Amino acid sequence: MKKFTCVEDIGYLKEALREALEVKRDRFAYKHLGENKTLLMIFFNSSLRTRLSTQKAAMNLGMNVMVLDVNQGAWKLETERGVVMDGDKAEHLLEAIPVMGSYCDIIGVRSFAGLQDRKADYEERVIEQFIKYSGRPVFSMEAATRHPLQSFADMITIEEHKRTARPKVVLTWAPHPKALPQAVANSFAEWVLKSDCELVITHPKGYELDEKFTRGATIEYDQRKAFEGADFIYAKNWSAYSGSNYGKVLSVDKDWTVDAEKMALTNNAYFMHCLPVRRNMIVTDEVIESPTSLVIPEAANREISAQVVLKRMLEDLQ
Ligand code: CP
Repeated sequence: MKKFTCVEDIGYLKEALREALEVKRDRFAYKHLGENKTLLMIFFNSSLRTRLSTQKAAMNLGMNVMVLDVNQGAWKLETERGVVMDGDKAEHLLEAIPVMGSYCDIIGVRSFAGLQDRKADYEERVIEQFIKYSGRPVFSMEAATRHPLQSFADMITIEEHKRTARPKVVLTWAPHPKALPQAVANSFAEWVLKSDCELVITHPKGYELDEKFTRGATIEYDQRKAFEGADFIYAKNWSAYSGSNYGKVLSVDKDWTVDAEKMALTNNAYFMHCLPVRRNMIVTDEVIESPTSLVIPEAANREISAQVVLKRMLEDLQ
């Protein structure tokens, strides 16, 4: 595997899930693969789970790990070509990327959407430059439009808990005080649609996602109707994608918060969220603390999704 930014890069999803469950049974079985190999993790944005789970996955594979927080102690990086660099950014990505590539064997990048310029965000300008100029295999630790390590972990979690061959999975928008990217929602839709699951997406009008990610899903504007008979409820906030509203918060309507009354409409559904989560905005304390909440096993599976991706990249380097 030379890059991992979207569901296509994982190949046949059923095989990837089989491999993930095998890795989970014995996560140290491939420790030899990473000997004398170095992972560089580059963060343009904050992280708890991605940082720790990916580092742990790399250690399970015997790798050395370096972490760079671009906004804490490194030179501020310019990402756009052609800019006169007379501001606060001291170094350009076009020099920084090959330099970073010279110190490592595999690169992971986290770079969120700026939510100001939809075209720039949806062209994935930062991670695409890493792929083009680093000379190394590159994987996304959440880019502007997708979060594939999260979606892969979500699919592992669904595979482990599903009670029918074709479970009904509902992706529901939920309120949040700040503008968040569409990446987790886009990516989750893209991965579920590659699986055997049924996907229903529910959100207030104005929160339609890019159809590129949702084609094949049912869009239902009535959240309660969407929840009926669901096997999994996946909650997430995202800001508007459409037109001049791109990146805006159009609603913080708490009637969209996932609560016990709505969960009672489901087929005793599991509750999922990628975390971090704002309690009593996205989901009530009662639901997230309930026996059917999967948020902790889901986060734990981030180690497994990262390990499968790193394992495949290391196998290519042998
Ligand atoms: N879910 C997730 O990516 O968490 P972090 O932002 O903490 O890495």
